[in-house]
Amino acid sequence: MKSLIAGNWKMNGLGASAAEIEALIAQFDGSAPDDRDILICPPATLVNRFASAYSDEGFLIGGQDCHAKSAGAHTGDISAAMLADAGAAYVIVGHSERRADHGESDADVRAKAEAAFGAGLTPIICVGEMEADRTAGRALDIVGAQLDGSLPETAEDFVIAYEPVWAIGTGLTPTIADIDEMHDFIRGRTRADIRILYGGSVKPGNAKEILAVNNVNGALVGGASLKAADFYPIIMAAPGA
Ligand code: 13P
Repeated sequence: MKSLIAGNWKMNGLGASAAEIEALIAQFDGSAPDDRDILICPPATLVNRFASAYSDEGFLIGGQDCHAKSAGAHTGDISAAMLADAGAAYVIVGHSERRADHGESDADVRAKAEAAFGAGLTPIICVGEMEADRTAGRALDIVGAQLDGSLPETAEDFVIAYEPVWAIGTGLTPTIADIDEMHDFIRGRTRADIRILYGGSVKPGNAKEILAVNNVNGALVGGASLKAADFYPIIMAAPGA
């Protein structure tokens, strides 16, 4: 299975941030390696610009969220069809920041994932427990319930990202044994051909160890994806196909 290294830029990035992708391309000596998939999910304002400029250089471009409906009176929202039209190939759905800031439920996430697949995008469905759940020994139960509620019933192709909420932006990560246990658990709940990413404080210093874990098929990287100097070693830490 090809590794997928995805950068979630969150609400960061202006047109000038293209310089970081140019810097990545320079590191790759012209174009991205094809033995791993490299995905950049910039803010929606940059999806079309990046897709037009960098799809031919071997970069996949994705959105960070989409609406469950294809069009309509939903001021400020973006549909999966619009992202696909702008050149996106993937879209993140159910990120914990969306679940927390916008009250998105598992049912909302499932509807978005199905809309994404219907529009020709591959959804990346995020799950992950809170710190209190991990401490109380409930992490597998919580993630299991999120999978039951959020995974699409119709989509054939999707990606799951396990992102423990307490590891996002904190510099903390689960132990390798805990990542191994969770990814094995998620694999058992899905299929052999679904990529399962780990996300939460992935850095150049820990990427190799995390990406070597069984059933870790890539990473969803936040802060360290914003700078080519950090993202490049993470991309190269993934096992090549
Ligand atoms: P950090 O890599 O900044 O911890 O963020 C992870 C994340 O939320 C990616 O979606």
